Amino acid sequence: MISELRNKIIDLSNEITSAISEATNINDVEDIRINSLGKKGTITLYLKNLREYDEASKKEIGALINDTKNKINQLIIDKKSFFKTKILNEKLITEKIDVTLTPHENEIGTLHPLSRTIEEICAIFSDMDFSIVDGPDIETDYYNFTALNIPLEHPARQEHDTFYLQPDINGNRKVLRTHTSPVQIRTMEKIDLENFDEIRYIIPGRTYRSDHDATHSPMFHQCEGLVLGKSINMGHLKGCLIDFCRTYFNVDDLPVRFRPSYFPFTEPSAEVDIGCKKEKDGSLSIGSGEDWLEILGSGMVHPRVLEGVGIDPSKYQGFAFGMGLERLTMLKYGIPDLRPFYDSDLRWLKHYGFMPVDNPSLHSGLNGVWS
Ligand code: DAH
Repeated sequence: MISELRNKIIDLSNEITSAISEATNINDVEDIRINSLGKKGTITLYLKNLREYDEASKKEIGALINDTKNKINQLIIDKKSFFKTKILNEKLITEKIDVTLTPHENEIGTLHPLSRTIEEICAIFSDMDFSIVDGPDIETDYYNFTALNIPLEHPARQEHDTFYLQPDINGNRKVLRTHTSPVQIRTMEKIDLENFDEIRYIIPGRTYRSDHDATHSPMFHQCEGLVLGKSINMGHLKGCLIDFCRTYFNVDDLPVRFRPSYFPFTEPSAEVDIGCKKEKDGSLSIGSGEDWLEILGSGMVHPRVLEGVGIDPSKYQGFAFGMGLERLTMLKYGIPDLRPFYDSDLRWLKHYGFMPVDNPSLHSGLNGVWS
């Protein structure tokens, strides 16, 4: 009886051993482990049934089962590690990457010129202690117009200029913001008036108007600026924007002109022009010549705008400015047409795009701008 049992266990051990040696993958080995050593495994069952035997048999058979169990366990561990090594070696061969291989020229991505302009502007203003904030693309009429002192009958509010969303149940229509100026209001609303000395913000972002031709796109980008403090005046506005224009266009003595203008949210308001020469072939040389080119709008924040956000205009004044980023990009890099900016044409991107590593940043320096 005992010898019969012993033979059965030896047969089982041989059977499992050969199954392990014939296994062709790690999953088969795991199945064998479960079927032999698992809770209901064949070897485990023999161990469970031990209590049916007398003491002497228990000792002999118990030792045999334990030896078998340990042997099978070891075989399983060895076979699994064999497959793991095999899988790894196969991966090392098939997934080999030649890091010395030059990538195919057409596969190098480039940075969109507009992205470069945004990074460059952020770097220039960060260096003047400005922080960068953003706001929602979908605005309320209040932030986009009313809070900025834009009257109800103003042409910018008209349907053919502005994209309106469907009115809600109360009849209020949201707009795709037509400029980045509403973020001025959102920023000023967050000011802690008890502990407020000065703020400097720029707000780059997407804007929308119902316009489409060689120099206008229904979606375009602007960068807004806002400085507010106890003694901010027009001199600060001029100094800041002259420095910005000269740094951005990389011309130390770039002529900059402030031309009186009108914006509902600033008083006084000024349009900023830079000196240039319009060549006979239509091209532009920035920095020299008799001609002027308008590049941004600016002004002292209107007292009514300040009052609207609870700021006392007799205690705080500020200046604001707004510029079109496509225009600044086209001027700096001599790009004649706006429309291909959003076509994702790889030939255009390759021609006008920048290598990501060439991109100016505060820590890497502004690519010669400062040198
Ligand atoms: N929001 C104006 C526009 O879209 C640009 C602008 C002009 C912004 C003067 C300003 C500013 O902050 O002071 O045409």
